[in-house]
Amino acid sequence: MNTQVGIVGGGPAGLMLSHLLHLKGIDSVVLESRTREEVEGTIRAGVLEQNTVDLMVDTGLGDRVKREGLTHHGIELRFGGRGHRIDFDELTNGRAVTVYPQHEVLKDLIARRLEDDGDIRFGVSDVQVHGHTSDKPKITYLDADGNEQTLTCALVAGCDGSRTSTRGLIPETTVRTDHFRQYPFAWFGILAEAPPSSEELIYANHPRGFALISTRTPEVQRHYLQVDPDDSVDNWSDDRIWSELHARVDGEGAEIKDGKIFQKSILQFRSFVCEPMQHGNLFLAGDAAHTVPPTGAKGMNLAIADVYFLSKAMSEYFATRSRAGLEGYTDSVLPRVWRTQHFSWWMSSMLHRLPGDTGFGHKRQVAELDMVTRSVAGRTLIAENYVGTPLG
Ligand code: DHB
Repeated sequence: MNTQVGIVGGGPAGLMLSHLLHLKGIDSVVLESRTREEVEGTIRAGVLEQNTVDLMVDTGLGDRVKREGLTHHGIELRFGGRGHRIDFDELTNGRAVTVYPQHEVLKDLIARRLEDDGDIRFGVSDVQVHGHTSDKPKITYLDADGNEQTLTCALVAGCDGSRTSTRGLIPETTVRTDHFRQYPFAWFGILAEAPPSSEELIYANHPRGFALISTRTPEVQRHYLQVDPDDSVDNWSDDRIWSELHARVDGEGAEIKDGKIFQKSILQFRSFVCEPMQHGNLFLAGDAAHTVPPTGAKGMNLAIADVYFLSKAMSEYFATRSRAGLEGYTDSVLPRVWRTQHFSWWMSSMLHRLPGDTGFGHKRQVAELDMVTRSVAGRTLIAENYVGTPLG
C-alpha cells in the first residue's frame, strides 16, 4: 500500500494532521495501536485555546464544540484565601478558552476523517519506520488481525505520543538533543457528579498545596489536587479528597460543592523537548517531541499548533517539490514550544507547594502572584498565554 504521508499515532496531532492534509488534497494513512474505543475513552485535559477552537471551526469540525463546549472568559488565581480574576475579554480583546475534553475532540476528528473516507488503522502493533532519510520511507506493522503490512510513503509523521518509538529514529547526541525536567509533585485528578463549584476555573495556591477547580458539564466536575509523585489513589478516600479540596480552596467568594466521585487518577509532571523535530523525511509532532506539565492545559493545544505548521510545510512540498518548509519545520515551531514550556513551568512554579519549603518559598510565591495580578501588564501576560498566542 502506498500513501503520501504515513502518520504514526492517532491522537490529536496525528488525526488533526491527517484532516488538514486531506483538506489540501494530500492522502495519508494513520496507524494507531489503541482501539477506537480506547482512543475515544481516554480522559485527558479539557481546555482548548482560542486557536484550537478557531482551527476546528475553520476546518469544518466546529459543530459540537460550538454547541457543547463551555466558553470561559476568565480564570481565577486564588491565594491568601482570596480570588483574583484574570479577565480574558478585557486583556486579550475578546479571546477566550473553551472547556471541551480532549477525547471529544478526538471523537470529532475520527468521525470527520471517516466521513471523508480517511484511512485510520486502529489496533495495529509492531510499527517500524524504515529508511526515513531516503526518498522512499516505508512503515511495516501488524494489522489488528496480526497480519504483516507495509506502507510506502514520501513523508512520515511521528505523532505517537510521549511513549514514542519514532523519536528514537533521530540519532541521539549526534543529531538530537533532549531537554528534560522532572518536578517534585504530581496531580491527583477526579471526576465527580456534582454541580459546578465556580463559573470559572480556579487555580489555588495554598500552604497545603495546589488545587484546581475545573468542570466538564453542568453535571460533571473535574478537580485536581497537588500530591507527591509517588502517592497512590488508594491513599485517598472520597472524604479525604473533599476535605482537602475544601481546605485548599474554600474562603472568600468560593465554596466547593461535593458530589459522587467516579474517576480517580494520578498525573505525573515533566517537561521535555527534543531538538530538532525533523530528521530526513521524519517529522515529530505533539508529545512525541515535547511534553509540558499540565498546569495551563497546553499539551493538546501545542500538538495542534505543531501540525498546523507541519501541514503547511508538507502541502508546499507536494505542490512545488520545494523542501524549504520541511527543512524549516523545527525552527517554525520551536519558539512556540519553548514559550509554552516556559508558561507551563511558570504557572506550575507559582502555584505549587515546594517540598521542604520552610515558609520562604510560599511567601515569595504569594508576593509573585500579588505582583502579577495587581499589574495590568502581569495579568495581560497570563491572559495572552492562557488563551494562546495567535498561530499566524
Ligand atoms: C484542566 C486541566 C488543566 O491542566 C488545566 O490547567 C485546566 C483544566 C481540565 O482537565 O479541566
